[in-house]
Amino acid sequence: MRILIASSEVHPYSKTGGLADMAGALAKYLALAGHRVGVVTPFYAKIPEKFPTLRSSGSSLKLMLGSQEISAEIRTLEPAEGLTIYFIHQPDFFFRASLYQQDGIDYDDNAERFVFFSKCAAHLAQHLDWKPEIMHAHDWQAGLASLLVHHRRTREGWGTAPKTCFTIHNQAYQGNFPAFKFGLTNLPWDYFNHRGVEFYGGMNCLKAAIVYADLITTVSPRYAREIATQAFGHGLDGVLRERQNVLVGILNGVDYDEWKTAGNPFLPHPYSVDSLDGKAQAKRDLQRQYGLPESEQAPLFGTVTRLVDQKGIDIQLSALEEMLAGDMQFVLLGSGDAQYERAFQKLAARHPSKVGVRIGYDHALSHRLEAGCDFYLMPSRFEPCGLNQMYSLRYGTIPIVRATGGLDDSIIDLTEDVDLANGIKFYDYSSRALAKAIRKGLALYGNRELFAHLRTNGMTADFSWERTAERYVEQFQRAAHK
Ligand code: ADP
Ligand code: GLC
Repeated sequence: MRILIASSEVHPYSKTGGLADMAGALAKYLALAGHRVGVVTPFYAKIPEKFPTLRSSGSSLKLMLGSQEISAEIRTLEPAEGLTIYFIHQPDFFFRASLYQQDGIDYDDNAERFVFFSKCAAHLAQHLDWKPEIMHAHDWQAGLASLLVHHRRTREGWGTAPKTCFTIHNQAYQGNFPAFKFGLTNLPWDYFNHRGVEFYGGMNCLKAAIVYADLITTVSPRYAREIATQAFGHGLDGVLRERQNVLVGILNGVDYDEWKTAGNPFLPHPYSVDSLDGKAQAKRDLQRQYGLPESEQAPLFGTVTRLVDQKGIDIQLSALEEMLAGDMQFVLLGSGDAQYERAFQKLAARHPSKVGVRIGYDHALSHRLEAGCDFYLMPSRFEPCGLNQMYSLRYGTIPIVRATGGLDDSIIDLTEDVDLANGIKFYDYSSRALAKAIRKGLALYGNRELFAHLRTNGMTADFSWERTAERYVEQFQRAAHK
């Protein structure tokens, strides 16, 4: 098939979270399966540093954004056969210190930046010579692209318009802006009503996509059910229920070319399910790097995360405070809300021989932390898919997760299936329930046979992208032939 993907972040070019991993891997594996794939994404300031050979394609575009005409250059890269990345080079919008916000505050022109980005995606869908059959947009930043294609198809006679698929990676982020920003779309105002893009008097980019996309997917089957309920819907559950006939949950995959324990440039000591010495060495290296005693016996827990409410940081902090009285160590790599950053730093100051904290973003360290820990903590309040629990499985690190969204779909607890168990799950959103799960981890650590059983199940589990990409193609085909 011919597929154009639109995503505001794409690994290895830009990333704040799992969206980047997902969009980058989906594009790569669709192309590997023989499809013609394009990815449209912003050209951010750090990209030319990492990819200095990237040149201008010589093409550019000029689009109206409300009353202003904005131009952008299109830079292209062909990282693999059948795969072209179309970078939108608009330095006023995208050459910034970070992708969406500074010092925890969203850029005040995010509506302009991402309405423009969505327009570029719709424009490419219409004008690329290879004529995409599917335009696959991700998250609110690309949400309006679905509406733009719908509009041109139904009101401007674009007979060969692609079918649109929209993937919800996180229903909590919706791209809400004041009503007047709808003018940036240059679309008729009759879309701006409660059955369209209007939401409590403002413009909602996620809602636009949910209402107008031909197909909606989200990143795990359980999250697909959750977001259609009031408890997880963030106000859009009713709109989703109306579109439930086109909503599908597909669990993300893992790019095992990158997340691997042997031949990985970030892991100096390779290991495998049959030979775990390299993992023991990774643990010692990690303990040293975090200034903790290099003890093989002390069970080492870890987390790599955005420090935001979604991730269950509040219950994690209190459960750790309680559990650190015992013999265990904990290491964190994360950044986000200043209050959480401070709270972890204080925890480390109170328990210097048991807790190590790195505030920041560090791709290499994220691999080393996954490899060096015995247990990975992911007590999310909600989790559309979650990737780190699946990375942990492959790295032989036992995940301890709350049973929500993709965490529930990917982790099997001993109480569910003794033979297939690969982690520890807890249910209540409370520090008590998490502390109890950590206690279970400590007991498991003392039972080497059972521990090895779970670890082997995890390391041999298969969440490969080949299979996941096929599921997307099945859905694309269904949509294309409707
Ligand atoms: P989310 O997208 O909600 O943040 P996921 O589990 O889907 O959660 O994906 C998070 C991705 O971002 C993983 O690849 C994880 O390793 C990475 N990540 C998060 N925080 C950091 C950090 N501080 N340093 C390096 N990588 C990080
Ligand atoms: C979002 C979700 C996360 C998911 C990722 C990739 O950031 O928070 O759960 O894994 O998207 O789909």
